Amino acid sequence: MAVSNPLETKVEQSMSNSQEWRVAVIGAGTISQRVHIPVFQKQPNTTVVAVCDVNAARAEAIAVETGVPNVYSDYEKMLAEMQPNITVVATPNIFHKPMATAALEAGSNVLCEKPVALTYADASEMFATAAARNLVLTVGTHFRFTAPMQAAKNHVNHGFFGRIYAARTVWQRRNGIPGYGSWFTNRDLAGGGALLDIGVHTLDRALYLMNYPQPARVTGVTFAEFGPRGRGLGGWGSDIAKPSANTRYDVDDLAWAQVIFADGTVLQFQVAWAANFPETFVTEIFGTEGGARIGGQDSVELYSMLNGLEVKTDTQLPAQKGGSYDQLIANFVRYLNGDTNADIVTPEQALVHVQIVDAITRSAAEGREVVL
Ligand SMILES: NC(=O)c1ccc[n+]([C@@H]2O[C@H](COP(=O)([O-])OP(=O)(O)OC[C@H]3O[C@@H](n4cnc5c(N)ncnc54)[C@H](O)[C@@H]3O)[C@@H](O)[C@H]2O)c1
Repeated sequence: MAVSNPLETKVEQSMSNSQEWRVAVIGAGTISQRVHIPVFQKQPNTTVVAVCDVNAARAEAIAVETGVPNVYSDYEKMLAEMQPNITVVATPNIFHKPMATAALEAGSNVLCEKPVALTYADASEMFATAAARNLVLTVGTHFRFTAPMQAAKNHVNHGFFGRIYAARTVWQRRNGIPGYGSWFTNRDLAGGGALLDIGVHTLDRALYLMNYPQPARVTGVTFAEFGPRGRGLGGWGSDIAKPSANTRYDVDDLAWAQVIFADGTVLQFQVAWAANFPETFVTEIFGTEGGARIGGQDSVELYSMLNGLEVKTDTQLPAQKGGSYDQLIANFVRYLNGDTNADIVTPEQALVHVQIVDAITRSAAEGREVVL
């Protein structure tokens, strides 16, 4: 079976299309400063034309630092005046739906930060809006593009695992509650805690390798054992809010679940912003012919039988150009340029993330299995 190496095709392919991409960014926060603006600025035929933030000083400072020529504090005005054909939505989660919808209605493709929406119903409406206008709405779940994940996907495509019938996917931090006291830990603005924030990344890693089976039954639990006591605080977002005696924390900091799919396969899922346990970032695949443990940046262990003996193989990872978010944005631009082989987070995939998160939330609240 001839299967292309995703590490080569996704990164090296050059497109002949010369469409000019005008990128507008809503939210001049940590992620757009570190990732969206500099990475879009590296793409061919792509200019970041404007940045918008309700905090005008923050927007101005980032624009100066990155050389973005236009600054706004009202995103609707920016959309009307700049007429971008790509809009990045990188604001607190509650704003993703109205902002992405406004951008789509203004005729722009959208890269929306995760979680795309707080509920499955909202996400479905957003993707329907995109489809009705023939525009692309995709989501920043970039961990599928790490070198170990792409190597594992290559092994999936070559049939190494046989039939994948089970998987386990884990992202548990020792001390990693982001933005304690900011929108991150406020249910009205974030919609949830670890489950929404790192849960969608953690789901995408496993589902990508499992080829996105249809979820059928979900049982989940959530806890908030660290945040309410002011423990387990991490570095991300520590600049946007300082803890105080009245700090609001009403989101989860741990979620575990089991998802059973329509084809009978099973996924064990564990995320935590904080835990009395070593930092764990791993996705494990169980197949009829082989298994794998896929870690963070540098590890893919393969397990199989060879000549009747148990074998463990370490995959030597090819060098990758840029980080996983660089790959996500490069693929998005290539897809917009007409490359149907470009690997993007599709509407169907993004909807499955939210569907499972919704079901875990319901299962945890009602103390029962949720049938989808
Ligand atoms: N894909 C990833 O790996 C990744 C990593 C970090 C954050 N994120 C996501 O990115 C989003 C932003 O996270 P962050 O860490 O950059 O947060 P942040 O708080 O640093 O930045 C958010 C910015 O949005 C601005 N904002 C709020 N309301 C606005 C409005 N009405 N109009 C314009 N701007 C507004 C805020 O002033 C702030 O500057 C979140 O959804 C988060 O989940 C994704």
